[in-house]
Amino acid sequence: MDIKEITLENLDPERFIAEQCSAIADAVTGGVAINALSGGVDSSVVTMLGHRALGDRLKTVFIDNGIMRKDEPGQVAATFRRLGVPIEILDARERFFSALKGLTDPEEKREAITQTFYRDVFGDLVRKSGARFLLQGTIFTDVEETVAGVKRQHNILSQLGIDTKEQFGYTLIEPLIGLRKPGVRKVGEALGLPRDMFARPPFPGPALAARVIGEASPERIALVREATSIVEAELSGVRAFQYLAILHEDKVTGIRDGKRDYGYQIEIRCWDSMDARTATPTRLDFDTLERLASRMTSEIKGVVSVTYNIASKPTSTIEAV
Ligand code: XMP
Repeated sequence: MDIKEITLENLDPERFIAEQCSAIADAVTGGVAINALSGGVDSSVVTMLGHRALGDRLKTVFIDNGIMRKDEPGQVAATFRRLGVPIEILDARERFFSALKGLTDPEEKREAITQTFYRDVFGDLVRKSGARFLLQGTIFTDVEETVAGVKRQHNILSQLGIDTKEQFGYTLIEPLIGLRKPGVRKVGEALGLPRDMFARPPFPGPALAARVIGEASPERIALVREATSIVEAELSGVRAFQYLAILHEDKVTGIRDGKRDYGYQIEIRCWDSMDARTATPTRLDFDTLERLASRMTSEIKGVVSVTYNIASKPTSTIEAV
């Protein structure tokens, strides 16, 4: 891997911002660039950086892929509009769900999301907008895991030898590629992002599809979306790197109102980590775990079992898919 890491100790956020803004402006020259904002830390930082470098020559799109968290498209767009960055919301739910239909293998699901995102949805957007550049928030850890063969991160293309210009008609600009998450947060703070954006727990590009084991159908995504909203509400006060809910593929026998109920199982994960390379489960107190179990089984139809992951990364990974 020939990308040079910028460690936290070596990062001067103001200098980084100035250098990256001029690199972006030089690359795009007088043209137009486009970027996708998901509301995650990396894409939020890239949006602010691109906006500072290009002003209204950056077109930012929130792609509603149907696999985001509750109310996410509206909330993210509203936050950025308040910061003076115009956001267009594109409804691409149909396209993503039809690409995911029938797929159960994790890497096939990731590949379907990558292709739908870069080839179909972005390919169209770029053709219509006349942009020749796509600005995106790939970070050092994404490249590292993909190159090591751990997971095919959804946003890794050129590092795998994929020529985006030839295949999709645009060139990628990746200003955060040398940084890990703590560095990205520091740059986000220096760019004036509100704390609840730059300090947010990470959220993966393949979104809730990374948290459904087996087919990511609209119904199963809706279920894990409810579970995610409960986990986030209950654990937002805990000092942890990331917390999430996973929907298992297998159903299990349960009991409800004195009768057999063959239902779903949800796995909760909560991680302590510095940069996602390694992680250990947070030692949550049992009252918290019991409250989570009680809310999951009473508020989400069909859930009969709730577990807490106690394995570290490695051997586990942070997401399940
Ligand atoms: P894993 O599951 O590999 O996750 O231990 C490490 C960190 O990366 C996030 N993640 C992703 N981020 N595209 C991303 O931008 C992806 O495809 C992707 N998959 C996982 C994950 O949430 C964790 O913070």
